[in-house]
Amino acid sequence: MKYPKEYLDEIKNRLKVSAVVSKTVKLKKRGREFIGLSPFKTEKTPSFTVNDEKEFYHCFSTSEHGNIFDFVMKTQNLRFGEAVKMLSNLAGMQPYTFSKQDEEREKKWKLYKSINKNFSEFYKNELFKNEKSHQAKNYLKERGLSGIDVKNFNLGFVTEDLDYYEILKKDFDESSIKETGLFYFDEKRNKHISRFRNRIIFPINNISGNIIGFGGRIIDDNKNLAKYINSPETLFFKKGSNLYNLDKARKLSNKLEDVYLVEGYMDVIGLSKNGIENTVANLGTALTSNQIQILNQFYNHIIICFDGDQSGYKAALRAAENIIDELKPDKKVSFLLLEDNLDPDNYVNKFGKDKFLQISNQKSIPIHKFIFEHYMSQTNETPSSKAIFEKTLREIASKIKDSFVKKYTLEYFLQKISELTPNINSKFRKNYRTFPKSLAKTKSYYNETKSLKSFEIKEFSFLYILLAKPKLVHENIHLLDNVKLYSDENKQLYNEILNQSDNLLNLNFQELNIDKSLTDRVMNYASVKHIISKNLSDDEKILEIFEEIIKDLKNYELEQRITELESKFSQDLSETTFNEIKELKKLQKIN
Ligand code: UTP
Ligand code: MN
Repeated sequence: MKYPKEYLDEIKNRLKVSAVVSKTVKLKKRGREFIGLSPFKTEKTPSFTVNDEKEFYHCFSTSEHGNIFDFVMKTQNLRFGEAVKMLSNLAGMQPYTFSKQDEEREKKWKLYKSINKNFSEFYKNELFKNEKSHQAKNYLKERGLSGIDVKNFNLGFVTEDLDYYEILKKDFDESSIKETGLFYFDEKRNKHISRFRNRIIFPINNISGNIIGFGGRIIDDNKNLAKYINSPETLFFKKGSNLYNLDKARKLSNKLEDVYLVEGYMDVIGLSKNGIENTVANLGTALTSNQIQILNQFYNHIIICFDGDQSGYKAALRAAENIIDELKPDKKVSFLLLEDNLDPDNYVNKFGKDKFLQISNQKSIPIHKFIFEHYMSQTNETPSSKAIFEKTLREIASKIKDSFVKKYTLEYFLQKISELTPNINSKFRKNYRTFPKSLAKTKSYYNETKSLKSFEIKEFSFLYILLAKPKLVHENIHLLDNVKLYSDENKQLYNEILNQSDNLLNLNFQELNIDKSLTDRVMNYASVKHIISKNLSDDEKILEIFEEIIKDLKNYELEQRITELESKFSQDLSETTFNEIKELKKLQKIN
């Protein structure tokens, strides 16, 4: 029995080799490839490489070589059929069972895709050649699209003057034509009418680049017609599990870190023609976690950038709530909210690629912040409003399936919420509350561009303890030996604290002559602040926590050094480097 080539191709298109391999082999990025220790023999030096672009893995020490199917067959001792089953499942596809239904479906699919292709080609040609497409051409020109843009996205225009249903009938049976949803039957006229007549059509491809449906836009502002319509759901066109332009955008994921998810066809085209081609759109329906999972096969960071109007904001919020339960530790979802009612298409055409990338860097906020800020803005001073606020956030966090992400999202929410009850919080918090602190500044933290690195958060905790318990740390000043901070701001703050307080002997927080934004960051982001303020008089406990943090900081330094050496090693393959790595790893274990 032979699997249809297309079925196998679709599995391959949906799964990057690195994503499959990294389930069993730890991979590190090196240029455009990944390297790791060979799963085919015990080795200490990585000789195993994965190339997503070429869709294969290669092991230099055993000469093993192949695609994802070979990989799971060899490493998990599976037969081909079993490998296909396992990988199709991983790719989120239906299993192929060689049943009569599967064969039927395969036949239908061939016809379906062929009809869509014919339809697209025909009306693409009409757009360029038919005089009646004049207005459509002008419309596209006015929107700033060149002939090349139109060709890149295979746009067409469904002219009215001929009955394409009849033409298709010469080559295809009627039930297959009906299956595509391109026509509907008008009983009065007793005729099949093209759903997209007088519309510019945007072919929607599946992940392998076959047309599965269309979007269609009117070219004049006729208030009686929907501005856009899409093909109806069919056997092969499922809106919630497809994304516009994914077939192209996925190919860039070997080079680029993140992907933009926008609302409309024109947003994708606008961003693409301005050089931002890592863009997809959901298809005029609510975003599903299924779509996020599909994107996550390729990209670790999804930036959702909907229209900067009320309805775009609402859609973004709904998307955030729809998808937060599927968040995974190694994946990131952010939101970029555009201002002034602009949508990504308007924005990039007006301000250009660089400016778009710049605001995307500076203004994207992670999903948990977006949700927090939204509900915060809905909350007023009354106790019941605040109670609803806390309950809502707790409920949202509790839906998250991954237990780690759930824990830290809840912690983030609760930490923020605790700021609403300064008097209930413990003594130290109360003291801190008396420090001058401006609301505007706190707000600007929410918008802080880069999300914090894990070591930075450790550093905040470290500094927090210095500020909260200076005497205690002074009595144990030896603990500070060899502690190194990495972020420039924290380094500066650390040095100032030590200098101005004579090694913490006489620290007076209010009199520290330091840029307040530096200490504010510590107060806001130190993850230990609750536990410390709860145990403020338990010196032993605090020391224990403090030592733990220092250990982590030192380990981070080791890790950095090991990473550096490993990348050096992958270049020079020198034994000295290798031994050094070994020593450091030992040290890491002792720590
Ligand atoms: P928008 O109305 O924001 O479209 O709808 P747009 O991309 O900015 O369109 P232009 O710039 O006016 O051409 C965003 C998406 O929502 C769906 C479509 O998928 C559209 O691309 N939509 C919109 C519909 O399905 N039907 C509609 O009537 C409007
Ligand atoms: Mn729009």
